[in-house]
Amino acid sequence: MNKTALYVTVAVIITALVVGGVVYYLVAPAPEEKKVEVCHWWTAPGEEDALAALQDVFLTENPDVVVLSTAVAGGAGVKMKALMKTRLLAGEAPDSFQLHAGYEMLPYYEAAVLEDIDDLWETEGWKAVFPDVVEAMVMWGGHYYAVPVNIHRVNIVWYNKAIFEANNLTEPTTWDEFITVCGTLQDAGITPIALGDKYKWPATHAFEQIMATEPQVYEDFINGEVTSAQLEPILTKFNQYLGYVNTDHGDLTWDEACGKVYAETCAMTIMGDWAKGYFTAPAKGWTYGLEFGAFKVPGTADKFGLCIDCFEHPKDAPHPTWAKEWLKVVGSKEGQDAFNPIKGSIACRTDADKTKYDVYSQMCIDDLATAAVLFPSIAHGSGSPEEVASPLNDKISEFVTNRDVSASASAIASLIAGVSHPKTWDIV
Ligand code: GAL
Repeated sequence: MNKTALYVTVAVIITALVVGGVVYYLVAPAPEEKKVEVCHWWTAPGEEDALAALQDVFLTENPDVVVLSTAVAGGAGVKMKALMKTRLLAGEAPDSFQLHAGYEMLPYYEAAVLEDIDDLWETEGWKAVFPDVVEAMVMWGGHYYAVPVNIHRVNIVWYNKAIFEANNLTEPTTWDEFITVCGTLQDAGITPIALGDKYKWPATHAFEQIMATEPQVYEDFINGEVTSAQLEPILTKFNQYLGYVNTDHGDLTWDEACGKVYAETCAMTIMGDWAKGYFTAPAKGWTYGLEFGAFKVPGTADKFGLCIDCFEHPKDAPHPTWAKEWLKVVGSKEGQDAFNPIKGSIACRTDADKTKYDVYSQMCIDDLATAAVLFPSIAHGSGSPEEVASPLNDKISEFVTNRDVSASASAIASLIAGVSHPKTWDIV
């Protein structure tokens, strides 16, 4: 090769390299940032502490990844779910977001905005460790779309022990005993029950637990077959319950209602066991069995109301690598045993380390395995389609105001009759 030819060849190679480099720079995808955005509604004492513990496990395993925690207060996801739908529709999906197992997932599945995570369920061995009842609730169309992090029990009454002791009260086991306790407290000038239904769902939550005293009614309700005649006795009991609640209930959130039990201005509250997380959080500092106790909603002792928090993986998550790492931690034994003792729930995994849980949660672990009835919460997304669950909050809220048993029974029954229920539950 003569000199000129050599120069030309070198120039061509250099030009090709430069052009190639520029083109690569312009069209190659930017490397994935080491970041994961997780959306949730855990903002109350206990909830936020538990999430921090879960994030710590993630950060120990992924120390150079930034966790962006996007919280929307409101409890039960009432506010966060609206934001999630807006973001998903606008193509601004986070990497992972909180949702309940069961029906609550259906609109997202139908809109095809979730990534199936069958591969993770396979590689992480989750099929072997999550209870079948939960596994069935996170599958749609034969695929897995969520990782459950816990099982909360919803049919619990939390009470202030000092108030009970000062009034010589013991834990009631029947509805009549419960009403007698309420009457004694009221006569003593203490508001018996704390309710905080500013965001409506805590009233639905209480109604649901009363309905669970009649499992056949509950099953008919979630299968879309309940009648107004079946609902009337339930609403009658609920009406009795409402006769003992604080007058400012409409101004308070669920945790502010717990705050009334904490401050000794109310004696009891029906709430899921995130209330235990509230009372035992560092900000409150109570110990279960010392300052506060719990009993099962009278009539539901052999029943276990399920509220299952999950995390989902949207399609188009901007950081899929870290989203998957997050989900792995959510489903891991280590993650669940760090999160749940603080949250008040039990691990969803059947191989949880029982020694990490207090006596209340150990009871729940045992009860879950032996309960006569496992019922999926309606107020917490699992039991009924969203077209029922969401307007039900309004109907119950109307009942809390007008206390008209027969009008509400027929309004709720016709709401349910007008909605298609693709799933058939068998809980009795
Ligand atoms: C439930 C949720 C619980 C708890 C509660 C109050 O729906 O599953 O984890 O956080 O809301 O926010």
